Order: sequence, then structure tokens, then C-alpha cells
Amino acid sequence: MLFTSVFSCLLLLSPGGALARASPRENPFNKRVSYTNVADFDTFETPIALAGLYANIGPDGAKSQGAKAGVVIASPSTSDPDYLYTWTRDASLVFKYIVDRFTSGRDSSLRTKIDNFVGHVGRIQQVTNPSGTVSTGGLGEPKFMISEAAFTGEWGRPQRDGPALRATTLIAYANWLRANSNTTHVQNVLWPIISLDLNYVSNNWNSTTFDLWEEVSGASFFTTAAQHRALREGIALATALGAPSSTITAWTTQAQNLLCFLQTYWSPESGFIVANVDPINGAIRSGKDANTVLTTIHTFDPAAGCDSSTFQPCSDKALANLKVYVDSFRSIYPINYGIASNAAVATGRYPEDVYYGGNPWYLTTFAVAEQLYRALQVWDAEGKGIEVTSISLPFFQQFNSSATVTTIPAGSASYTTLTNAIKTFADGFALKGAQFVPSSGALAEQYARNDGTPVSAVDLTWSYASVLTMFDAHDRLAVDSWGAAGLTVPTTCSSGDGKSATVIFKETATTIWGENIYLVGNIEALKNWNTNNPIGPLSTTTYPVWTTLVSIPANTHFEYKFIRKFNGTVTWESGANRWNATGAAGTRLTLNNVWK
Ligand SMILES: *[C@@H]1O[C@H](CO)[C@@H](O)[C@H](O)[C@H]1NC(C)=O
Ligand SMILES: *[C@@H]1O[C@H](CO)[C@@H](O)[C@H](O)[C@H]1NC(C)=O
Ligand SMILES: *[C@@H]1O[C@H](CO)[C@@H](O)[C@H](O)[C@H]1NC(C)=O
Ligand SMILES: *[C@@H]1O[C@H](CO)[C@@H](O)[C@H](O)[C@H]1NC(C)=O
Ligand SMILES: *[C@@H]1O[C@H](CO)[C@@H](O)[C@H](O)[C@H]1NC(C)=O
Repeated sequence: MLFTSVFSCLLLLSPGGALARASPRENPFNKRVSYTNVADFDTFETPIALAGLYANIGPDGAKSQGAKAGVVIASPSTSDPDYLYTWTRDASLVFKYIVDRFTSGRDSSLRTKIDNFVGHVGRIQQVTNPSGTVSTGGLGEPKFMISEAAFTGEWGRPQRDGPALRATTLIAYANWLRANSNTTHVQNVLWPIISLDLNYVSNNWNSTTFDLWEEVSGASFFTTAAQHRALREGIALATALGAPSSTITAWTTQAQNLLCFLQTYWSPESGFIVANVDPINGAIRSGKDANTVLTTIHTFDPAAGCDSSTFQPCSDKALANLKVYVDSFRSIYPINYGIASNAAVATGRYPEDVYYGGNPWYLTTFAVAEQLYRALQVWDAEGKGIEVTSISLPFFQQFNSSATVTTIPAGSASYTTLTNAIKTFADGFALKGAQFVPSSGALAEQYARNDGTPVSAVDLTWSYASVLTMFDAHDRLAVDSWGAAGLTVPTTCSSGDGKSATVIFKETATTIWGENIYLVGNIEALKNWNTNNPIGPLSTTTYPVWTTLVSIPANTHFEYKFIRKFNGTVTWESGANRWNATGAAGTRLTLNNVWK
């Protein structure tokens, strides 16, 4: 019965968007199945999600005609939105799941798909695109045509998480090949691809990037963490393969820089991870973002325990952050109204989101469950009890209002009560997503904030991967370690090149609609006073304070001024030039100014 309805529904769904516009009551295919436990949802959804995933992979996926071998389409939807492209991030996360499924012995037939993906990555790396050539930045290009041609339209580029995520996926496969006596294939085929991506990460991590939602340019927690992870496991592979020590030294230096920088996203005052720092564009945001939860699940390392420097799922920072993130959706989505303040709710990308109406997403809701399942797995596996710190106290008080800063001993009655409550909470997020899955089992990108109707792209490949990794976490399947255990965070952070300092320019200026603030100065990094090509417009994230961040050579004196531009007319600040000087490489200087 189920399969009949699945097939008839899939046929009716394509042209994308049809389902999104129908109300649940009118559309018989949108009836939902109600689950009382996650195992039932797993039994129902897993075959559908796997079929949905494979349908979106070229060359022979049922919904990806025209895609080259190994290409993952984001969704078969061709309009409203048009997602018939391949994104490096989505494809790498999807293939990480496929590689894990293969290497854990669950499906040996996946090897052909994985080899196709390796071939695809090798080709796409060499495609010259608007971000550059293979050696001038092209590896940071976020999306391509499914024919593997460059996408030449305007876009938020570069996105520097792509090469890191791609390397992580290929390293997982490389490690399996090595363990199965096929190091030759790793050396000849995978290593050249992986090392290109990791050299890109090593050389470019400290340059601005668009975030995973392709909206904010600056530095993104998800990107920094993905880069850190990729370099760590890349160092281990490089060492095993006997790569030059200069490579290993360079990557180790940058991995330490990344680990240091990663800490700066945590806001001790606010008690959560601020998703984007040093933004150079974008509107006002709280910084609460699924970016951080996705980071925690995609950089999970079971050997690292509850380490907070790598934001492991059971770390105090990741748990405190999770509560703040979840709570930010309680009062903004009508489908969450009336739900107890310590029960699961629908969650989306970030509370200020307006994309397609700014709805909850399946993959973000499932990510919450996944983080909690992995936290429970580590607590039980380590048997060290649960450490409640002053940072994580608000998280634990959801389950025990009189919780205090203490360690709850493993095996105690309190431990059992608490972990049962957290398990119920975690299941709640899995079932919350499940509640809004139509009876076909198809997963779109979003579900409507008012009534849970699927919205935006149909059959989003990443949605399918997200429910599958969530089930793996629910079942506590083993995950490879990537080297997060036992790291030492440097005491001072350094930028990557060892030559420049970071200067944050802030200018308080009220403006009229359509007017923007820019920056120019006397050195090349400040555009040599060229008002036709100034830095900016500056970010208004904290209007009326306009902000930008510039890399300036160390120990350099510089002069600067802010300008206004309105309808093509330039207005200079009055008075003498402003000036200052950078310190040593890697230092940060913040300049607070007021328009004069
Ligand atoms: C090594 O792996 C590649 C990729 O799957 C395969 O084509 C090749 O036959 C393997 N070689 C050996 C010796 O197993
Ligand atoms: C570069 O690194 C420095 C030092 O960690 C940091 O302050 C700065 O925000 C980084 N910039 C980017 C864009 O990663
Ligand atoms: C709640 O926390 C308090 C303080 O740590 C503890 O005494 C109590 O046993 C906990 N309640 C349960 C049900 O575990
Ligand atoms: C903008 O500039 C154009 C060309 O100089 C001019 O025609 C127009 O009136 C200006 N608009 C405003 C709102 O000042
Ligand atoms: C340079 O910047 C520092 C830090 O903001 C500030 O204290 C100092 O006054 C500035 N120097 C000048 C000449 O503006």
C-alpha cells in the first residue's frame, strides 16, 4: 500500500511547487502518517529517503536526467525555486552519508556511486568558473551546472566550506581503501584531489567567505569548523601516505590557527555560538542559527568526549547553544504556539529568515535530534557521568528545574531520569519533523510555519540525507574519529599568512534610504583613495554603526576616511585624514569612529 501511494505521489509532485500551494485538507497526497515512536518513522522513512537520495544522483538517478556521473542535484525542482544545479556543500554532505553507509558494510553496491563522485570531483575542480581557475580560487565556487559546466550568474561566492567538506568525504573513502589494501588507488586518484582542496583550505581559510546559507559574507562558524576538521584528518592521511613534511607543517599551523579562531564564535556574554562574525554585508541578525547545530553534528568525533573547544554534541557550549537556538523559534512559528517551553518544536535556519516565508526546515529540525542522540551516546559510552557546568545549566534546567552545577554520576537514579528526559526531548524533534512529512514520505526543503505544509524545493537531497544521519545517530551507529581529541587551543590567534593584521573599521553614521557608507585610504588595501572602487558598502548589521574588516600588512601606518554615496554622489568626511597603524601579524585592531 505504502509503495503504491509513494509512486503515484512522486508522479504527481513533479512540477515542483504544486504540493506547496495545496492545503493539506484538499490534497489527499498530503495526508500525514502519525508516529508514536522514532523506530516506526525510521522503518517507514528510510527506504523512501534512500530512494529519494539515489534518484537525485547522476548519471542514472530517476530524477536527475542530464546530470553527469557522480553529480548530486540539489533538488529536481526547476522553478520556484530552481535547484537543478549541484552545490559542493550539499553534494559532499550527501556523499559523506553514502560513504559511511558503504564503509560500515551496510551496502557494498554503493562503491560505483562513490567512484563516480570521486571522478566528478576530479573534473569539477578543473573547471574555470567565476571564482577563478583551479589555482586562483576556483575551488571555492559554490555551485555548478549538472552538466559540470560553470554557473556564470551572479551568486554569493566564494563559499569556502565546499573544498573542506569535499575533502572530508573523500578522506573517509580513502581511509577505507587503505584499510582494504588499496593504497595505490588513494595515492594515484584520491590524494591529488584531496590535497588540492586542503591546500586551498590551508591558504585561504582567513579570507572572507559566504556562509552556508549563501547570504552573509564574512566568517562563518560552520565553515571554520569544517575547515578545521578537514585539515586535521588530512594531516593524518598525509602522514600515512608519506606526504612532504612541508605540507604537513603548513597544514598543522593552519589547523591550530583555525582551532584558535573557532573559539571566537562563542559569546560568553550571550551564552551561544554566534554563527557569523566580522560580517561585511547583511542585515541585522541575532546570530542564532542552525549553522551551529549542523556544525556540531558534522564535526562529531566520538573520541573527543564532551570537548568544548571542538563544540562536541555533549559539550556545555554546544548544549547551551542548542537551547538558545531552539527557543528562538518558539514564539515565531504558529505551529509552535502552545507547546511547553521544554518540549520539542519546529526549528528553521535562523529566526530572522524570510526565504520562502522563513519556515522551519526538515534538515534543521532533524539536526537538533541528531545532536542530542550523539550527546546521549557519548555520555553512556564514556560512563563518566554528566557534567553540568554554569554554561550548560540552563539546558539541563529544562529537565530538572532544581538542577545545579555538579557532575551527575553515571548509573545514578538522577542520571537515568535525566537521560530518559533528554531522550524524550530528542525523539520529540524527530517526531516533530515526522509530523509534517506527507504520507508519500517525500521531503521538501521547508514546511510551512502556519500549518506544516511542505514548502519550497521538493525532494531536497540534503533533507533526505539529514533524516538518514539522524536515524544513524538514534541507532548510535559508530562514527569515525577525525582527530578532535586532545587538542590544545593556542593562547593567541594568528591569521593565516603571518604577514597581515586584521583591522575592523566602525563608523557611526545615520543615513537616509538608499545612502551607504564606504571606506577609502592611502594604501592598496584601502583602495588608494579611489572613490570609484571603495571598500563597501559597509555592513549595517549593527546600524547606525557601519562595519567592515580589512586585512592590512603588519606594522604599517595608514590613513583613511569614510565616504557617503547617494545616487552616485560622493560626500567626504570633513577634517583631516584619520590614521592609525597595525601591530604584529595576526593582531586585531578595532577603530571606532563617528561621522564628521
Ligand atoms: C581499488 O579501488 C578502485 C576504486 O574502487 C578499483 O577500481 C580498483 O580495482 C581497486 N584495486 C584493487 C587492487 O582492489
Ligand atoms: C582571520 O584570522 C584572525 C585571527 O584569528 C581573525 O581575527 C579574523 O576574523 C579572521 N578573518 C577571517 C575572514 O577568517
Ligand atoms: C534535580 O536536581 C537536584 C539538584 O541536583 C537533585 O537533587 C534532584 O535529585 C534532581 N531530580 C531528579 C528527578 O533527578
Ligand atoms: C539621481 O541622479 C540622477 C542623475 O544625476 C538625477 O537625474 C536624479 O534626479 C537623481 N535622483 C535623486 C533622487 O536625487
Ligand atoms: C588607533 O586605534 C586605537 C585603538 O582603537 C586608539 O586607541 C588610538 O587612539 C588610535 N590612534 C589614532 C591616532 O586615532
